[in-house]
Parts: sequence; C-alpha cells; structure tokens
Amino acid sequence: MTNMDTIRASYEADLALVEDSKMLGDFWTKYLSKSGEIQKLMGGIKSVPKEEKKAYGQAVNEVKTWAQGLYDAKKEEMDKKAMMARYDDETIDVTLPAASTGAGNLHPLTCIKNEIIDVFAGMGFEIFEGPEIEDDDHNFTRLNVLKDHPSRDMQDTFWLTEDLLLRTHTSPGQIRVMDKGELPIKVLVPGKVFRSDSDATHSPMFSQMEGLVVDKHITLCDLQGMLDQFVKALFSDEAKTRLRPSYFPFTEPSVEVDVTCFKCGGKGCSLCKGTGWIEVLGGGIVNNRVLENCNIDSNEYSGLAFGIGIERIAMLKYGINHMGKLFENDIEFLKQFKA
Ligand code: DAH
Repeated sequence: MTNMDTIRASYEADLALVEDSKMLGDFWTKYLSKSGEIQKLMGGIKSVPKEEKKAYGQAVNEVKTWAQGLYDAKKEEMDKKAMMARYDDETIDVTLPAASTGAGNLHPLTCIKNEIIDVFAGMGFEIFEGPEIEDDDHNFTRLNVLKDHPSRDMQDTFWLTEDLLLRTHTSPGQIRVMDKGELPIKVLVPGKVFRSDSDATHSPMFSQMEGLVVDKHITLCDLQGMLDQFVKALFSDEAKTRLRPSYFPFTEPSVEVDVTCFKCGGKGCSLCKGTGWIEVLGGGIVNNRVLENCNIDSNEYSGLAFGIGIERIAMLKYGINHMGKLFENDIEFLKQFKA
C-alpha cells in the first residue's frame, strides 16, 4: 500500500513536468503501458497474503482509475492548448486589402484582329473560319496555283501527307465559301497560317485575315474604296492607299497595297525608307479561273479579294521590331498594350 502512495506521488510529480506530446508519450509508456508502473502494481498481487488480496486489488483499481483520469485531463488540456496555438497561428486578417493581381488586357494581335473585323463588319462583311489542316486542292490547285507552278515555292509548306498540309494562307477559305453556292458573298476569313520560315519578320505560325467579295460589277475601285476605309480606321484619318501592280495566281490583276507612312505622314523617313509609303497587304480581282473552279459564272459575277497579315499590321502600328515578341507571352511586353 505504501508502494502505491509513492507511485501516486511520483505519478503526479512526473505528470506536472509534461510539457509536450513527446513527453506525454514517454509518460504514458512509463506508467500506463502494459509494462508500466501501474500495471506492475497489479503483478504485485501475487506476493500479497490471501486475505488482503481483495482489498489490494480494489486499491490497485482505484489507482488505475485515478491515474487514467489525471492522464486524460492532462491530454485534453494539452490538445486544447495545441488547438489554440494553431488558431493563433492561422489567424487570417479579413480586413487586410487583397494582394493586387492587376487587370488583364487583350493580346495586341487580338486587338488588331478585332479592329479589322469591326471595320469590315461595318461594311457588311460576315466571318467565316476554315480548317487549319487543308488539302492541296483548297490551298493551292483551285486557287490557280497549279502543280509544279513556281508560285508554290513562294510559300514554304509544312506537308502532313502527300495531299494534306498546314494551310499556308487563309485564301482556301475563299474556295470553301464559294463552294457553298450562295451569292453574293462578302466575308472575312481570319485564322492561323503556317510556313517554314523564321526570322525577325517571319514566324512558322502567324495570322491572316482574308477578305472576299463576289457580286455583279465588282471592280478594283471597290477594293481600293474598302481598303481606304480600313487604313483610315486602323492608322489615321489622313491615311491613303496606293495600289501597285503585283502577282498572285488567284487574282488578276493583282495589287500590292501601300499606305501613306503613318510615322512621317508621307514625307519620307526611316520607317518607310524615304518612300513615304508602307506596304500593308496584297489583293486584287478574283481570277476568273478561281470563280469557275467554284462554279461561279465569271461573265455575270466578279470578285475582289485581299489578304492581310495581322502580325505585320501590329508590328507597323505599334513599332514592334521582332515578330517573335508577339508570341513570347512576356507580361511586361504585353502590358504596354492596355487599351
Ligand atoms: N494569300 C496571300 C499570301 O498569303 C495573300 C493574298 C494576296 C490574299 C492577294 C488574297 C489576294 O486574297 O487577293 O501571301
């Protein structure tokens, strides 16, 4: 019995020293585990005289219950403390202002694309989108770029099979629209195009915007009138266009379209290399052969077409000197185009 009192005393003293869960674990092993001090008391019953065994057993049980009670209370107190410490630690000050992430803005290419669409939508154009994987027929042959024709070399093509390719321009969109058989036509075909080409002003992937009008009595004047509106809206109210003869297999006649230099206003500067003009796009009157390839009667109908390089317009308008900058997704660069 005296042994029990000593154990109670040391149990209380030891428990008072426990400060963390590791110490509590050690304490449990020392007293409450199977080989612990309290359990050993039970073993002591063997050496107790028969008549005292009952009282001894009761006393041991009392100690056990008492010990477990103290232990549980201590554990509860420690758990509570740990929880409070966690609460303190994880306190969130809901009154703090949120970290600013800044508002995003549209990519310059998206802005230019939207601007171009706005201008032509105002003239009644609709939007058509064709596939990025095209066949030889739509991308070349029916656009009057015949097999072995040297103009096929104008565009370095990514071939996928003998017949399939990544479209080299948005012009196959013209064929797809004319194939629908609905006249008149007034469409814009925006999209990504692909060529095996890469330097400061070329990229293997870039974007174009094709324009096609097919109706009765369409002439080059209509083309120039529309493009005048386009350059005024995109560059400046004073901007004018100039058509220069050129060659594209799908147009006849074909023109290269220049705009008055928006840096010097036409006087001549480093941007326009002293000419006062900057080339912005290609176009022309749809070649009769292309109309006929799409079963459109070229005696009754005529068409105009043009192809705009979106990156080129963005570079000219914003003074960007390397096309790659438009694809790098450098936030600091893109932030400058906040509308
Ligand atoms: N497809 C031409 C190119 O990728 C651009 C072009 C020129 C489109 C004249 C036209 C056009 O529709 O009439 O370089």
